[in-house]
Amino acid sequence: MKNITLAALAALALVGCAPKDNSLKMITEATFPPYEFLRGQEIAGIDVEICRAVAQRLNRPFKAETVDFDSVIPAVISGKADLAAAGITVTPDRKKNVDFSIPYVKTGIVVIFKKSSPFKDKEQLKGKKIGVQSGTTSETFVLEELKQEPERSKSPAEAVAALKSGRVEFVIADIDPAKNCVKGEADLALSDFITSEEYAVAIRKGQPELLQAINVTIEELKKSGQLDKWIKQFTEESDKLKDK
Ligand code: ARG
Repeated sequence: MKNITLAALAALALVGCAPKDNSLKMITEATFPPYEFLRGQEIAGIDVEICRAVAQRLNRPFKAETVDFDSVIPAVISGKADLAAAGITVTPDRKKNVDFSIPYVKTGIVVIFKKSSPFKDKEQLKGKKIGVQSGTTSETFVLEELKQEPERSKSPAEAVAALKSGRVEFVIADIDPAKNCVKGEADLALSDFITSEEYAVAIRKGQPELLQAINVTIEELKKSGQLDKWIKQFTEESDKLKDK
């Protein structure tokens, strides 16, 4: 009896003193190689390493979670996550809702097409069925530049599957996941950039110290050459996963 009481007390004490989860939580959408992709169950990629480096600087444990791309920015606004890193392009609209770090990559979107019906210019896209990942700048491009509704998918790869099966005539996506999608597809090709964009980490507004920690981390990763190493490493790894 005495033992049980002691055990119960000990359990209570443990609950009472249970450390608050101090981990730095990253939110992403892991169908976007080489920035984030699934390595088995684990989320891997350039963005994951950038956020892990921020957690290390802050001396906090690190966690990453994947959700649909439309839910990534809302997750930091609501406080469900601390850092949003998902190849997120800095846009004036998004800047109204979140703070962005300094950019870590210059990039843009491209058109993925079938070699049998090559892409020539933007005019040609008007009135065509165009696949995009939902919530992305590719979707905004179709809505605002082409003034039409896109065919929305959950991932760039799903949009490309729709292109291969003929359900859409073109796909628009960020260049790096687009390259990964067309790898090994002899009948698909990519256009030049149709926009110029920059990726940055997004956080809930009004956290100057966290923003500073992210910016200093990115600066260091750029200067030391580590960021370039990760870009190379994760491009190779995600290309290999594609071969399987
Ligand atoms: N750069 C584009 C955007 O910000 C696409 C990002 C998609 N990222 C992802 N992890 N699925 O809208």
